[in-house]
Amino acid sequence: KLMKVFVTRRIPQEGMKLLSAAGECEVSQWDSSEPVPRAELLKGVERADGLLCMLTDKIDAEVLDAAGPNLKVISTMSVGFDHLAVDEIKKRGIRVGYTPDVLTDATAELTVALLLATARRLPEGVEEVKNGGWSSWDPIWLCGYGLSGSTVGIIGLGRIGMAVAKRLMPFGVKRLLYSGRTAKPQAAELNGEFVPLDTLVPESDFIVLTCSLTPETQGLCDKAFFSKMKKTAVLINSSRGTVVNQDDLYEALSSGQIAAAGMDVTTPEPLPPNHPLLTLKNCVVLPHIGSATYATRGVMSVLTAQNLLAGLRGTEMPKELVL
Ligand code: GLV
Ligand code: GLV
Repeated sequence: KLMKVFVTRRIPQEGMKLLSAAGECEVSQWDSSEPVPRAELLKGVERADGLLCMLTDKIDAEVLDAAGPNLKVISTMSVGFDHLAVDEIKKRGIRVGYTPDVLTDATAELTVALLLATARRLPEGVEEVKNGGWSSWDPIWLCGYGLSGSTVGIIGLGRIGMAVAKRLMPFGVKRLLYSGRTAKPQAAELNGEFVPLDTLVPESDFIVLTCSLTPETQGLCDKAFFSKMKKTAVLINSSRGTVVNQDDLYEALSSGQIAAAGMDVTTPEPLPPNHPLLTLKNCVVLPHIGSATYATRGVMSVLTAQNLLAGLRGTEMPKELVL
């Protein structure tokens, strides 16, 4: 008997091919570039054995109840899993697959690109060239901040944080600080110093968020946090939007409390086009594209399909999230 699988989005064809080639699944799919509407998700998961989902799908008790007792595996095409109600999932004995490692390089690269774009004011410069605001080479115009001689502070030195640090050091970074739950032995190769946030925040010229979203990191960057940052410092967020209090960020950016912010993640996603943050020149917002290279998204889709199939078969998953 074929196992029922629901796929919540149009994904790269490599992953879909793997699912159909396996010949074990009856696949239904929300075949769209838009997230599945909640009602369609609740209908789609009915009697499903497996669910292949995105970080845009909130998988909570309601979804699990709609699926019913057949559901054995949830495979998310993401490294982050804050959209999954893990306690509810664990209670029901459902296994979870995710996609760490394969997106580390792409996400670190995008984080570095965002940092440089924000610190050196690339979007502002591009805009000025297009709108005629650039009149001539100017000794004091569009100056920003460089990495050479700087102190970089990374909050959450996991796989992605470490890959960001490795890429930044060759720009002439003088000191690498990091904060998180635990010291990381691998930081030694970069002379990274494990410090409390109270040290990292005031001493860093660049603060990079690569932590996962947890109760400890939710709202971490608030008024008090920004008030301790250097006025010349730049904040970069590749984690999740809610790690940053956006009202406080707006205040810090518009009052000159901090120099600039670059964010690949926001709350909500997308921000409404009239959002206050989008009116600020010193705020660069990207549409959550950390892992968005053709190659990486292809590999992610394959890994997500492999995790799903392993979960359906009851065999070892390539990347299982241990709950
Ligand atoms: C992206 O944010 C991911 O979690 O994969
Ligand atoms: C976080 O999950 C990371 O890969 O750094």
